[in-house]
Amino acid sequence: MSRTSLIGIPVGRLIRTVAIAGLVLLILLYFWTSPLTNCPPQRPQFKQLSDGHHEDNSIAEEKVEKPVLLLWVWPENYRFDLSDCKTIYNIDGCHLTDDRALYSSSDAVLVFHKAIRWYWYTLPPSPRPSFQKWIWLNLESPTNTRKIYGIENLFNLTLSYREDADIPVRLRLTSNKTPNKDFKIPKKDKLVCWIVSNNAASTGVGKRNTYYNELKKHVNIHMFGNAYAKRLADEDYYPTIASCKFYLSFENSIHKDYITEKFNGPLSAGTVPVVLGPPRKNYERFAPRDSFIHVDDFPDAKSLAEYLTQLDRDEDAYRRYFNWRRHFSARPHLILQNQEFVLAICTACDHVAKHKEYQEAHDIYEWFFN
Ligand SMILES: *[C@@H]1O[C@H](CO)[C@@H](O)[C@H](O)[C@H]1NC(C)=O
Repeated sequence: MSRTSLIGIPVGRLIRTVAIAGLVLLILLYFWTSPLTNCPPQRPQFKQLSDGHHEDNSIAEEKVEKPVLLLWVWPENYRFDLSDCKTIYNIDGCHLTDDRALYSSSDAVLVFHKAIRWYWYTLPPSPRPSFQKWIWLNLESPTNTRKIYGIENLFNLTLSYREDADIPVRLRLTSNKTPNKDFKIPKKDKLVCWIVSNNAASTGVGKRNTYYNELKKHVNIHMFGNAYAKRLADEDYYPTIASCKFYLSFENSIHKDYITEKFNGPLSAGTVPVVLGPPRKNYERFAPRDSFIHVDDFPDAKSLAEYLTQLDRDEDAYRRYFNWRRHFSARPHLILQNQEFVLAICTACDHVAKHKEYQEAHDIYEWFFN
């Protein structure tokens, strides 16, 4: 029997009992409020509630909920108005946002490859909500893509210029409903032009420079762009291309499907692209065979130069390069600066609006670099 007791229970034991009960309560409270024990994360449902004044309104309007697409970082820090997707591409199927506070309710998150510095460092937090898909956004070719190890199996969808990406991105020709007979070739005052903005050796521009150096021995080439001290204002870009009969659509590196705005630009401006890139067959997936000239069509740069000079004198033969215009239309990018990112982000928006299925992208490097 202890010295002090309260209604027959020793005080020591009473204190112990209360302390243990309190502890148990605290632990229960912790698990009850902890997000870990909450039911598996569900996409929060935001219902548009009609306000009380319209109780007699029998047509209960329930807004169709758009999936949320979160842009984790702005590619190359270039910001644009998120409503551009609707105004430029008529894409309006998702709620596009850059507000990270919406992370836990985002259906998909766009992660710009170049902005991932180190595993986890600049990535969205884990674990991700179970319904959420991460999209790997990379528009560069393998030559200009740095491998960041540890992210190969992190994504659900790939976004790239590659046709076999989950979300392939490019401006495409559209077929005309009725043949268009009104196309006029823009006025030309130059034969061959080339706009080069970045000629850093690191970007693998070897082949195109070698070819250019050989070609310019045989035909005069008008050079524009940062690399040649003749900067072009954005609004002069397409008009400059349009004023040349031929435009050198030389890609900075050669990879399957890596056919960029360097090709689409002259097609849409009304100029004949002279292409250096993947094989002709690859180009023909995206444009009619008689809409462009491929450097591989000629044994060397000299014979290409001779052919271009010959077309300069043969109006009818030159005109035939625009026959495809009757059946197809090409359009330029409306925003010039980082246009490809606007198109990419809007295309992703369109994709998440249409595809709700579960998906994993395995070993993206095995796919991308091979
Ligand atoms: C997304 O991919 C990850 C990694 O493969 C996977 O764990 C997750 O279940 C996938 N989620 C969805 C919604 O597809």
